[in-house]
Amino acid sequence: MKDLQIAFIGAGNMARSIIGGLIEGGLAAGNITACARTEESLQKTAQEFQVNTELDALKAVKNADVVVLAVKPQILKEVALAIAPALTKQTLVLSVAAGITTDSMAKWLGQEFAIVRSMPNTPSLLQLGASGAFANANCSVEQRQIGNDILASVGIVEWVDSEALLNPVTAVSGSGPAYYFLMMEAMIDAGVAMGLDRDSASKLTIQTALGAAKLAQTADVDVAELRRRVTSPGGTTEQAINSFEQNHIRATFTCAMKAASDRGAELAEILGK
Ligand SMILES: NC(=O)c1ccc[n+]([C@@H]2O[C@H](COP(=O)([O-])OP(=O)(O)OC[C@H]3O[C@@H](n4cnc5c(N)ncnc54)[C@H](OP(=O)(O)O)[C@@H]3O)[C@@H](O)[C@H]2O)c1
Repeated sequence: MKDLQIAFIGAGNMARSIIGGLIEGGLAAGNITACARTEESLQKTAQEFQVNTELDALKAVKNADVVVLAVKPQILKEVALAIAPALTKQTLVLSVAAGITTDSMAKWLGQEFAIVRSMPNTPSLLQLGASGAFANANCSVEQRQIGNDILASVGIVEWVDSEALLNPVTAVSGSGPAYYFLMMEAMIDAGVAMGLDRDSASKLTIQTALGAAKLAQTADVDVAELRRRVTSPGGTTEQAINSFEQNHIRATFTCAMKAASDRGAELAEILGK
């Protein structure tokens, strides 16, 4: 990794998270070039990380071993067409753009390129991200490893063998933070409805989410067993769990996440044109 030149097209939230993760992991800032639409963004990125900056995407990717595409999905086509002439067969293209398939990217860049498509999530901003990733057939083992190391600088990485599985990944971890926010919102509101002040309900809810996640991450049993262990027969938790089950919580999640996954497939279709 330490000898690689990495160009970021897009210097927004996601690009800056990864740049921060890479530098923290020991990559020299001089190995990184950031490209954005505005001079203002580039100045901000240079000030924060001391990386090289370039307004012209084609110049930014010249001599890059890895090109990270971190622009909004709607403008990925325009960017891909602009940088294609400067890529070589050795260049790894790593996309973090939601919903753009490797086939669509290959259509715009050229069929011969090694492409890793990833689906990171918002907690990457705190290096607590969870990314799904897929490597196309042109990727060598080394390129896949490089893609892995870059994504791992902001959290965990799970690889899928079939690109279609990035839609369920989107439904689990891509959209997942919002489900937890919704659940926390509902728990805070319910606490307030029962008499707690909002600040206390909020602090108790958020710390409980953090503690439960930490327990789930470090325990040597699965989450179902953890739940059983805190659900004493005849106790308070059992009452709540029974109520959730009677109100079809599992079917609710299955339906919601199927809707997210289906929308992922639909968007890929629309954005890939
Ligand atoms: N944020 C997340 O949690 C998250 C999670 C999963 C996936 N993603 C994916 O990550 C990608 C980036 O998201 P983001 O949240 O980082 O977006 P963002 O903060 O809006 O950043 C987009 C960046 O693209 C730059 N840009 C726009 N047009 C450009 C062009 N023609 N050439 C070069 N750069 C250009 C913008 O430059 P200016 O700053 O100068 O306008 C900006 O730096 C998206 O595709 C998104 O789907 C994000």
